[in-house]
Amino acid sequence: MWQIGRSDKDSDKKYRSLDQVIDRYSPGEGQLIRILQEAQNIFGYLPEEVQTYIAGKTDMPVSEVNGVVTFYSLFHTDPRGKHGINVCMGTACYVQGAGDILEDFRRDLHLKDCDTTDDGLFTVKNTRCIGACGLAPVITVDGEVYGRLNRKEVPKILRKYRKIEEAAEKTDDQQPERPAENQERTPAGP
Ligand code: FES
Repeated sequence: MWQIGRSDKDSDKKYRSLDQVIDRYSPGEGQLIRILQEAQNIFGYLPEEVQTYIAGKTDMPVSEVNGVVTFYSLFHTDPRGKHGINVCMGTACYVQGAGDILEDFRRDLHLKDCDTTDDGLFTVKNTRCIGACGLAPVITVDGEVYGRLNRKEVPKILRKYRKIEEAAEKTDDQQPERPAENQERTPAGP
């Protein structure tokens, strides 16, 4: 689940980090964007609850905080997957079949009413022209541009990023376990 609740420990930890951020920047003027940037790094996105919390802590109207969040495209109010897929739906890409490509991604990832997969791995969005019309149809994944795409490449691209994740997980599994800090030491022999 992607909801943020104040009840679990993880969430409390995030709010404690946010408190530290707010303490660092307040009461200076014009610091709201920095606070929001750091809050987004901490929570992954800026839901209403976090915006309200920031407003309360900084003595600002919620409407002002929300106005900044919605004005800047770098902020998002819904959860994002680890890998962001943006399918350009500008005119050049659209006429070259971008709509089908977008549908293929959504279908392969079982996305119906949302843009992010249940495992939090992918978010699929459509976007306006990204200025690479000569390569239409174009998508970006985590900022990397894939041009002159055809529908057959959709599963290949997803496989590529899944493999990257699998490799990262294996690397994590192979990390030697750190000894427990409170582990009792065997007394040295006589
Ligand atoms: S329309 Fe897609 S890059 Fe311009």
